[in-house]
Amino acid sequence: MANYTQVFKGTAFTSKSSKDILILKEYLFCINEDGMIDKVLSPNDDDYQEMLTAHEGKAHFHQLAPGQYFLPGFVDTHVHAPQWAQSGTALDIPLYDWLNTYTFPIESKFSDLTFAKEVYDDLVSTLLANGTTTSLYFATVHKEASLLLAEICAEKGQRGLVGKVVMDDPEQNPPFYRDADTKTALAETEEFILAVKALAKSTKQGVYPVVTPRFIPSCTDAALKGLGELVAKYDTHVQSHCSESDWEHHHVQDRFQKNDAFALNDFGLLGDKSVMAHCNFLNDDDAHLFAKTGTAIAHCPISNAYFANSVIPISHLHAKGIDVGLGSDLSGGFSPSLFDNARQAVMSSRMLEDGVNPALSAEQRGLPSSRITINEAFYFATAGGGESLSLPIGRLEENYAWDIQIIDSRVSSAKLPIFNPDEDLNDVFQKIMYLARPENIREVWVQGEKVHSRKL
Ligand code: GUN
Ligand code: FE
Repeated sequence: MANYTQVFKGTAFTSKSSKDILILKEYLFCINEDGMIDKVLSPNDDDYQEMLTAHEGKAHFHQLAPGQYFLPGFVDTHVHAPQWAQSGTALDIPLYDWLNTYTFPIESKFSDLTFAKEVYDDLVSTLLANGTTTSLYFATVHKEASLLLAEICAEKGQRGLVGKVVMDDPEQNPPFYRDADTKTALAETEEFILAVKALAKSTKQGVYPVVTPRFIPSCTDAALKGLGELVAKYDTHVQSHCSESDWEHHHVQDRFQKNDAFALNDFGLLGDKSVMAHCNFLNDDDAHLFAKTGTAIAHCPISNAYFANSVIPISHLHAKGIDVGLGSDLSGGFSPSLFDNARQAVMSSRMLEDGVNPALSAEQRGLPSSRITINEAFYFATAGGGESLSLPIGRLEENYAWDIQIIDSRVSSAKLPIFNPDEDLNDVFQKIMYLARPENIREVWVQGEKVHSRKL
């Protein structure tokens, strides 16, 4: 029998498909030294008892207590790390004003590495405590502070995908917050890619460099072209904002006579490792291009409600074959919790399906079949995120990373309303998805290592 580094026993929830969950009741999860799930055994499997006997009672054997459950760790596909410092503020002003009066001044402060460390340390710990085991981060234009964020992820054990933001156009970006010039922006991006790749070698869970044009308006054509070349040269992930707001959508139309999706594709910025945030204005042709190139959408339901007054038809876009992950968009979205974002994704989708507007006739209301279930929102927060990033994460299956959160339904300060010890596990899952708070997240593991635990 293989020599496993860790063996876990308990009931787990994971996605079977985008619409259905799998309930793995009292399963064994055998983790190898690379932190990958090597074997998953059901109590009905022949070798279950033998495996249990071999490991039970040993230091590397972990059995869940009654009322505890495994969930895959969450994958947050869109986080602005520096904006943690302004979370929850000024969400009632338009995006363009919010960027210029709140966000860029805050982000400019990350030239100060002491300030950057304070904010990034707190953010990464907070995300882990909220069950987020992988984050796709925008940092700032500063190479050193962006690298510091990757180092903090490496040290705290989070799987961080980090981008040094590119904003090189002097016409579009304020003098106090932009790249020195196009050449420097590209050179620093390349240095950043190499530094993060070197750092990754010292981590178990991996950290990844991400090519990050903030959005088309902030970049010159030369920068977009150069970034596309860096993606091809180093096979990196890519992230940006795509078709988010009215203003930005029209800027791209005026400049390129096409939508963001086609413009980004012309620069080599769409592909299997590309994740585009928001996508409020994606039309059918754009969606087809996303599906064809393997480009994913980071669905940010809280942020979209504030900055775009928008609910995107995410179920229709996913049905077209587009990968979808869930994104908090801190701090366009105020919450660091993907539980909160999953809840909002479901609630918004219901309003899109049948929003009541007395000015409209019943036939004009909503977009049929837009609703998503909590199972689908869970899928976007876990397996869908893994597919978006093309990484083996987000599922409790063999050959996936052991990235998990242990949910405790019996924590006295946040007890979930489960009164029947034989409660249907589908109902338990739904109670967790709708009611769990950070207090219920007792432990978080990434790549087979414990990275967070909460004492009672
Ligand atoms: N578009 C360009 N930058 C940003 C940002 O920081 N947040 C959001 N929501 N949209 C953007
Ligand atoms: Fe964003």
